Amino acid sequence: MTTLRPFTCEDMLKFNNVNLDTLTETYGLNFYMQYLARWPEYFQVAEAPNGEIMGYIMGKAEGHNTHWHGHVTALTVSPCYRRLGVAALLMNWLEDVSEKKHAYFVDLFVRVSNKVAISMYQALGYIVYRTVLDYYSGNPDEDAYDNILVISLNYFSDMRKALSRDKMKESVVPLHHPVRPEDVE
Ligand SMILES: CC(C)(COP(=O)(O)OP(=O)(O)OC[C@H]1O[C@@H](n2cnc3c(N)ncnc32)[C@H](O)[C@@H]1OP(=O)(O)O)[C@@H](O)C(=O)NCCC(=O)NCCS
Repeated sequence: MTTLRPFTCEDMLKFNNVNLDTLTETYGLNFYMQYLARWPEYFQVAEAPNGEIMGYIMGKAEGHNTHWHGHVTALTVSPCYRRLGVAALLMNWLEDVSEKKHAYFVDLFVRVSNKVAISMYQALGYIVYRTVLDYYSGNPDEDAYDNILVISLNYFSDMRKALSRDKMKESVVPLHHPVRPEDVE
């Protein structure tokens, strides 16, 4: 059985089994603390009966007017607990919290090369709203290489799902041209 519970500071000392994954972003401790302090309702852990962390989700609410939305900053499930519906459960939680805050949509950024995550988000009703170029461009030298591998590593899909407040589904009309990070709100 899977239990969802709020993430606590102590979880940062025991989530290595989940974060040791090349597709999982690991941030500095202060980044997690900031989310814990500002958006605790968006930071949830899925726990196994033996107390092990199966996965977690970290998010926030942001934006103005019709851009008011829930955002998934991190979602990851330990390789030992994949394909059991854990990510779907965590996403459902974040969507419920966003519904209660009367958000118009939920969004997230995922590497174009992360086909598994993109399939999962599509299965959960998300669409690719737009492509973002160089969203996390850590190494400026990478941009010098003009090849498909580097392009796919540096491109992100901004995926969205409309919530019930967006009755006309205006937030999920896809943009057909890519945008740069500075154009992302
Ligand atoms: C992506 C990830 C979070 C999925 O977690 P999960 O708990 O295994 O996903 P779920 O079991 O909830 O899957 C829900 C649905 O997504 C789809 N899906 C999940 N994994 C899939 C895979 N490997 N291949 C194809 N579809 C997949 C399926 O439709 C699945 O439903 P089904 O099992 O009934 O067919 C997990 O693989 C992971 O942590 N990856 C590394 C970190 C990462 O990429 N995070 C997202 C970054 S934005």
